Amino acid sequence: MKNFVLSVGTALLLPLLFTSCHTADEQKVLRIAHGLSVDHSVHQAMVYLGEVLEEKSGGQLTVKIYPSAQLGAERETLELLQLGSLAITKVSAAVMEGFAEEYQVLGLPFLFQDKAHAFRVFDGEVGRDILLSGERVWLRGLGFYDAGARSFYAKEKPINLPSDLAGMKVRVQKSNTAISMVKAMGGTPTPIPFGEIYTALQSGVVDAAENNPPSLYLSGHFEVCKYYSIDEHTQVPDVLLIGTPAWDGLTEQERVWVQEAADASVVRQHELWRASEEEAMSALKAAGVEINYPDKEPFAADVQGIYADYRARPVLDELIRRIQALE
Ligand code: GCU
Repeated sequence: MKNFVLSVGTALLLPLLFTSCHTADEQKVLRIAHGLSVDHSVHQAMVYLGEVLEEKSGGQLTVKIYPSAQLGAERETLELLQLGSLAITKVSAAVMEGFAEEYQVLGLPFLFQDKAHAFRVFDGEVGRDILLSGERVWLRGLGFYDAGARSFYAKEKPINLPSDLAGMKVRVQKSNTAISMVKAMGGTPTPIPFGEIYTALQSGVVDAAENNPPSLYLSGHFEVCKYYSIDEHTQVPDVLLIGTPAWDGLTEQERVWVQEAADASVVRQHELWRASEEEAMSALKAAGVEINYPDKEPFAADVQGIYADYRARPVLDELIRRIQALE
């Protein structure tokens, strides 16, 4: 029923949202939607993408950005891309799991040795294969934005051990890997779209959530959750995607410009991210959030069963092997 209502809602939006609109002198405007705020590095990097694109194309290609989930939550913007009603979106790789199996590996807890290893994966051949796996479902990945590492934050107490999650309802992304992870650690996972977390925390629908420092800070969730426990269980990146209908509507030259502008935007976002992560941590401390650094071992031990399940699936097994082989 929910899917039906969503589809009807999406269909109603169709006439309003052409993938790209052509003006009289053949300019094309690519519409971009995402769920983060305008002060987030992702939004700023998209503004830069627009500038680069406009410059490269001599004004032939421009972008219009819809931030803060104005056009729907991440799953919905992906559906708009598939329908050809929107050109570009940014979602968490976790949400792409429901569309292309390959993305599931990126959400595996404690998969990467460190940040440098994660970026060797995202920026290398494995990352490219994962980005292009989405073409099967009309979602072509253009690049990975940095979304740091995710850690738990809670209303009532710090999480020092997985056993502290017992009896806690924990908001997770719409991702089977995230659901399995919280279950394996002993909490009760509750999938909720990003834009609804604040109210869910405030009203007690959930007791905790997990995210990176900029999202905890910029979303204001820290006003409700005063305990941030840096266990860094996952390093799920954000993904910039273009719908195949929009991609197919571009000339070969325009595709080159779009990919180059996306690449430039990824580099810019990575720079902006570093600063925003530091700023967010200082701001959280200044706002009185208690930050603790639990031992990661007990959390990592609890999720080994998820690896066994994933390794039993050939596509995922192969990707896990390639990632672990990338020293
Ligand atoms: C991260 C990510 C967002 C995502 C959010 C979430 O902050 O950058 O793209 O929406 O996590 O937890 O849903």
